[in-house]
Amino acid sequence: MRYLVTGGAGFIGSNIVKELLSRGKVVRVLDNFSTGKRENLDEFKSNPSFELIEGDLRSYHTVRYATDGIDFVLHQGALPSVPRSINDPITTNEVNISGTLNILEASKDCRVKRVVFASSSSVYGNSETLPKVEGMAVAPLSPYALTKYAAERYCQIYFQLYRLETVCLRYFNVFGPNQDPTSQYSAVIPKFIKLIKEGKEPMIYGDGLQSRDFTYVTNNVNANILACEAEGVAGEVFNIACGEKYSLLDLLEKINVLTNNNISPNFKEGRKGEVKHSIADIEKAKSILGFKPIINFDEGLKKTIECF
Ligand SMILES: NC(=O)c1ccc[n+]([C@@H]2O[C@H](COP(=O)([O-])OP(=O)(O)OC[C@H]3O[C@@H](n4cnc5c(N)ncnc54)[C@H](O)[C@@H]3O)[C@@H](O)[C@H]2O)c1
Repeated sequence: MRYLVTGGAGFIGSNIVKELLSRGKVVRVLDNFSTGKRENLDEFKSNPSFELIEGDLRSYHTVRYATDGIDFVLHQGALPSVPRSINDPITTNEVNISGTLNILEASKDCRVKRVVFASSSSVYGNSETLPKVEGMAVAPLSPYALTKYAAERYCQIYFQLYRLETVCLRYFNVFGPNQDPTSQYSAVIPKFIKLIKEGKEPMIYGDGLQSRDFTYVTNNVNANILACEAEGVAGEVFNIACGEKYSLLDLLEKINVLTNNNISPNFKEGRKGEVKHSIADIEKAKSILGFKPIINFDEGLKKTIECF
């Protein structure tokens, strides 16, 4: 089986590539290194089952070329980050929506068996009901969240109209090795670990009581593989998470304990477009995909700190 991992030089994509190659699969990566890193691919370069196409999701020609001869597309490539999308909604829109449309059209043309799309819990917005269940109304609060929802709908429409099999996975705050701690748009866990290890105070926007369903990346890698293999899942959307929530203050305390520190945060005014609480109902993924979180938050945090 031949896999195309878009965004394979990024955090989640590179973890997927590693697992697929370790299972003896043939893997092609399409990435333009806008947020991904060349060093995330260094260990695969000498593997004959690995191929890199450096190119942009926004070019249909490039995407069509990358999709040729592929069985499964794991579409991770996107411009992530809510704040980035607020600063530059047009580029986020082009990469995340038009880029996904290019992937779907090329996959239809190339008779790909299935496309698995990396969606996001941000599509739910500030839902009153917790945990968040796939069937509830969405309410995107940022351009980023809206692009993820539009791309999901395109995936479903391609299944309905053209019978191209698509599966959407709504990730909830993923963390682990290869996650970039250095960008202004970095996620909270790598940012906190880096600052605390340097003895610096991390910044918390808001009161620190906002909570997230932090999910170690191995769980998302497994979900992608299950989404390629499971029967009767085309056209579906699944939450992928651990089904537990922790506040940013909980997170800070755990990192302090694991790194033998006692650093307090700096608080700043809450950010626009940010969701207050996020926790997933993962029953649908469990019962239909056969998904089970195998590494919990504490274990994942320990592994992540060891990797730094
Ligand atoms: N990390 C999370 O917590 C999280 C949560 C929900 C959803 N997601 C989604 O998961 C996917 C992977 O996220 P990540 O955290 O690994 O981010 P990342 O930034 O590390 O990876 C994204 C990859 O896409 C590539 N890319 C961006 N624009 C491109 C373009 N125009 N053409 C080709 N490649 C391009 C980047 O270079 C990068 O390698 C994204 O679709 C993201 O929206 C992530």
